[in-house]
Amino acid sequence: MCGIVGYEGTREACDILIDALSRLEYRGYDSAGIALLGQGEIRIERRKGKVEELRKVLKGAALKGSIGLAHTRWATHGVPSERNAHPHRAGDVVVVHNGIIENYLELKEHLKGAGHVFISDTDTEVIPHLITDHARKGRDLVDSVRLALKELKGSWAVGILKESERTLVAAKNQSPLIVGVGDGEYFIASDIPAIINMTNRFIFLEDNDMAIFKGRDMRIINVDGEDVVREVRQVCWTAGMAEKGGYSHFMLKEIFEQPQAISDTLLGRAREEEGEVEFEGVDLPDPAGIRKIWMVACGTSHHACMIGKNLIETSLRIPVETDMASEFRYRDPIVSPRDLFIAVSQSGETADTIAAMREARSRGASTLSICNVLGSTLAREAENVVFTHAGPEIGVASTKAFTTQISVMFLLTLCIGKRLGIFGPQDVRERLREIRAIPRKVRSVLDEAPSIQAAAARYMFFRSFLFLGRGINFPTALEGALKLKEISYIHAEAHAAGEMKHGPIALIDDDMPVVCISPADRTYKKACGNMEEVMARKGNIILISDDETHEMAPRAGEMITVPRTAYELQPILSIVPLQLLAYYIADLLGMDVDQPRNLAKSVTVE
Ligand code: M6R
Repeated sequence: MCGIVGYEGTREACDILIDALSRLEYRGYDSAGIALLGQGEIRIERRKGKVEELRKVLKGAALKGSIGLAHTRWATHGVPSERNAHPHRAGDVVVVHNGIIENYLELKEHLKGAGHVFISDTDTEVIPHLITDHARKGRDLVDSVRLALKELKGSWAVGILKESERTLVAAKNQSPLIVGVGDGEYFIASDIPAIINMTNRFIFLEDNDMAIFKGRDMRIINVDGEDVVREVRQVCWTAGMAEKGGYSHFMLKEIFEQPQAISDTLLGRAREEEGEVEFEGVDLPDPAGIRKIWMVACGTSHHACMIGKNLIETSLRIPVETDMASEFRYRDPIVSPRDLFIAVSQSGETADTIAAMREARSRGASTLSICNVLGSTLAREAENVVFTHAGPEIGVASTKAFTTQISVMFLLTLCIGKRLGIFGPQDVRERLREIRAIPRKVRSVLDEAPSIQAAAARYMFFRSFLFLGRGINFPTALEGALKLKEISYIHAEAHAAGEMKHGPIALIDDDMPVVCISPADRTYKKACGNMEEVMARKGNIILISDDETHEMAPRAGEMITVPRTAYELQPILSIVPLQLLAYYIADLLGMDVDQPRNLAKSVTVE
């Protein structure tokens, strides 16, 4: 999705902004632009394509100024082009925007009637025109922006710069925007990694906030013009965490970071000696009074929810309903005040997940979010939040978020089970021992990377893959297929193995690799039966199992063995070879692994 950065300080802003923009590239975009205010006028440069294209142009342009805005655009209204790239300008006001202005056509008609001339196809362009329309009536920038924002419907994070007042304004509604607090300088950005090399002190703006930067001072008001106070928070992420650190891609780095990320998730929570799990600052409702648990999310986080459902229902016998956030609120869900609603999101900024949580809250449910990003909307808005502590995830394909989310769900199950009296200290202790061993076991799967890379070279030219799994292994199959398709553009679909003969089996021939996730668990025999059916149709099996002597191994085209663990934790180990397989196939095919086409890291519009 679009990325915004801004600077107000004493240094030359151009390089700072372009560097910050490059750090936002992972979000996905198709064009980029910058506006700088020097001693005289605001100058704008925009280019279709990569930030690098913009950087090249700026080299010769000698754009100077210590106040500025920059933007990466992910097209919603109007094709990717220089004309539609941000910043957009009207009079001496320029605007960068992330989000969607739902009533832009109506506003545009009205503004055209008042003599405003539009040059782009974007919804964004109405914003600078609305602001200048108010300014024409003698209002200053702050009042003009306030009034303009009140006329907008939809979602926005905006950076606004006005030449004649040398003022920068940042405002948001349902799209993320943060302020970085430096020494005598301020930054604005869509997310933390963009400016983490500049500061680790942030203000997380709330909906309807407007941060106003003028002459090294900042104040925050709301759209009604009232002063608001927002805390400056320090985050423990470092600049190095948001860099590739010698890996060829962020995705590969993040796959390899999983042992550490899972250890960090457990830190301070898994208290093995006492047989306790504690989430500091989390005050869950009395589990005995919970009617039902909802687990709602998108994409990879949704797959983690499906595993969470399995964990909770099996151990706690509390009914769990999972849903895709984009579906949840449109089906008039039957939510009661006795329900616990768990929203799961790496970014904490996924628009559908936020909307779903708001819907559940409005129906009286208690809310808990499982998030990775401090200060994100879901983290702020849920009554309770459990952070995954995975560190920044930059690759568009989610990897360590998935395994740390499952780790949190495992701990949560133990915590609730203990309170319900289902688990005694000894049960908790034994289960904690299992999860404590997981980082080491993940490391041993990672040691197999060279052989998985070799397998990738053998399978990279197939155009379609099927992934099968049963029970808790079905979400792993879904996640493996998602990884492969999103970064390699190879068609991949996943099915519950038992469903295969109800349709997907028609696809199987010798041109269709079938990835089967089949640990030695309660589904083993049934999964073997499904594999027999695949082989009978000349399907080529890639088997993922913790059983080296798996009865299907001799006939599988490929076998990747993972260590054994508890049934509930097996997905953490089974997904790692699938992440690696997807990564190596995409890399061997020469794909842009970290920024696959059409995708955005954080989907901040519905
Ligand atoms: O930040 P979130 O966890 O809410 O993001 C949800 C999905 O957009 C995300 O998992 C997406 O499916 C990834 N590209 C998957 O790799």
